[in-house]
This record gives sequence, C-alpha cells and structure tokens, in this order.
Amino acid sequence: MVTGGAGFIGSHLVDKLLAEGARQVIVIDNMFLGNEANLSDALNKGTILYKDDAELASSLKYIFERHPIDIVFNAATKALNYSFINPSNAFDTNVKVILNLLELQRQKAFKTLCHFSTSEVYGTAVYEPMDEKHPIYPTTTYAAGKAAADIALQSYIHMFDVDAFIVRPFNNYGPRQNYKGYLAGVIPITIWRILNGMAPEVHGTGKQTRDFIYVLDTVDAIIKLYGKMSVGDSVNISTDGQFAIKDVIKKVAEGMGYKGKILYKEARKSDVQCHNASNAKVKSMIEYRLTPFNIGLQETLAWYRKHIGNEP
Ligand SMILES: NC(=O)c1ccc[n+]([C@@H]2O[C@H](COP(=O)([O-])OP(=O)(O)OC[C@H]3O[C@@H](n4cnc5c(N)ncnc54)[C@H](O)[C@@H]3O)[C@@H](O)[C@H]2O)c1
Repeated sequence: MVTGGAGFIGSHLVDKLLAEGARQVIVIDNMFLGNEANLSDALNKGTILYKDDAELASSLKYIFERHPIDIVFNAATKALNYSFINPSNAFDTNVKVILNLLELQRQKAFKTLCHFSTSEVYGTAVYEPMDEKHPIYPTTTYAAGKAAADIALQSYIHMFDVDAFIVRPFNNYGPRQNYKGYLAGVIPITIWRILNGMAPEVHGTGKQTRDFIYVLDTVDAIIKLYGKMSVGDSVNISTDGQFAIKDVIKKVAEGMGYKGKILYKEARKSDVQCHNASNAKVKSMIEYRLTPFNIGLQETLAWYRKHIGNEP
C-alpha cells in the first residue's frame, strides 16, 4: 500500500514498485493534491486506487479487510505551504495518518511500515552537512507534525515491536510535482509562471539553499533500502549538495528560454535558511544513483512543457 500514492513522490513509487514486480499495489489518497492522471499507467497495470482519507481509521480498516497487505509506504501529507494557512490541520494530517497505521500494524494488519519523514524536521542547519543525528527543530506545524510522527513511530517500536523505519527525503523535483496554486513547489510554479507569461518570483533574498534531488533517484533509493533498514532506523535521501533558490530559479528561466525580469518578493516567515544534507549513510547502504541536476531539470522541463496547458 502507498498512502498518498496519487501524489508526486507516491505515484513514482507506485510505478517503481510495479516495475520491480510487486504483485499488487493499493493506493489510498484523498485527492487533496493527488491526481488520478499520475497513476494512469499504474491503474492500467492493476493498481487499485481508493479515493479515501487515511486520517479516518475506518477508511483504512476496510481496505485492510479487503486486501492482504505486507508493506505500507506512508507518503500521505498536505503540502508544507498549506501549514501557513491551516496550521492545525497540517499538523493533524501528519500525525493522524501515522497513528492509524501504527495501530493497524500493532494489530498485525500488515508487516512492515516505511514512513516518509522530511528534511524539514531538522529546521535550519545547526551543523553541515546535516546527518541523521542532527537535532530536530521543526519551524512549521507541517514539520512539527512530521517530527511528532517520527517520535510516535519510535514509541510504537519500543512498546509493541512493530517493524518500521523512516526515510527522510530532501527537496524533490521532477515530473508530476504539483504546479497549481499556492501549494506548488518552487520549480513547477516557476515553469508555470513563465509558460503563462508571468515573471518568476523569488521569496526573500533567494540565498536560502536546498538540497534538490531528482524524484526518480529518491524512489530508486527507497526500493533498494527496503530490506536493508533495521527496525527504527532513519536515513537521509539527499544529494549532499545545495543550490540557492535564486540560482535554481535562474536555471529554470534559462532552460525555458526566458529572458525577462525575476521579481523579488517578501521572505516567507519560518523559511528554513539552509539545508545541506549528508548522504554518507545511504551511500554506505546501497548502490546510490544520483542524476546530475542539469539532466534532471531538462527532463522535468520537458515534462511540464508537454503537460501544462494540456490538462483534461
Ligand atoms: N516533495 C518533497 O520535496 C518532499 C521532501 C521531503 C519529504 N517529503 C515527503 O514525501 C511524501 C510525499 O510527498 P509529495 O511531495 O509526493 O507530496 P504530494 O502532496 O504530492 O503527495 C501527498 C499525497 O497525499 C495525499 N493526502 C493528503 N492527505 C491525505 C489523507 N488524509 N489521506 C490520504 N491521502 C492524503 C495528497 O492528496 C497527495 O496526493 C510526504 O510524506 C512528504 O512529507 C516530500
């Protein structure tokens, strides 16, 4: 099962699971940001999509009653930006979904839980590069909910010996990331603005940095990590490099052939300033594939050029 499997990373994970020979993939997604089109190949290959809410224990329960599920990848969340307008629900989603899953796991409804945490739980780096021992300092309710979920998972392991581990992706980019409205990520919204004749926008100085990883590398790593992670372990999935947001926006603009102005807007409160992650651990565990940013960006731009404006 992939929770949030109609979303950006979740849908790529579904495709990868099928490519690796998964017998059956079940998705639960409340379509908050999920898109059925992300799963079009997967649905043709027998994936079952439940448009339902994983925050509701009863919704998960009936799905588990219908399908023998071995492993759950918990990728459901409401995007970080949402926490600026509905802070309490952003927190709630991140906590309720994992608690529902942990309760089911405690009752032996499934075997292994791979939980998606986020680099955001670390907050701004206290030291760099941030490794898995970096202190937790969430600066948004989104990240606080994620940190609470990580702690809940550890407590269920101590109390009930559940088989669970944590993957902690850094900033993903690539095809299928949402580009619509205020919840869009920086790369897709920049592409969207340019394609719609608007100038790209930088929030704050643009000097804030992020560790950008190509989404196909993330799901490749997760599949390779499965079976190698010990109970309760967590691992960063990152490139060990960082780009300033203004440079990323410039690269997107160049890639799109945009020659106009770049607008500078007010900084977003609580924006993490620096996010440079250590990937020493993941590299020591698997054959770690990393796509160079320029290549990943080219593939991403090509995908958006084809899809933006061609929605059904
Ligand atoms: N994208 C990134 O850069 C990034 C970085 C670090 C961690 N992560 C984590 O990876 C996971 C996937 O993120 P993403 O970027 O694909 O986000 P996304 O928003 O594209 O996907 C999340 C999916 O969860 C669904 N969802 C939300 N609430 C739900 C609920 N109550 N029940 C069922 N489905 C629900 C949404 O509809 C969406 O399809 C998340 O856990 C996120 O925290 C993402």
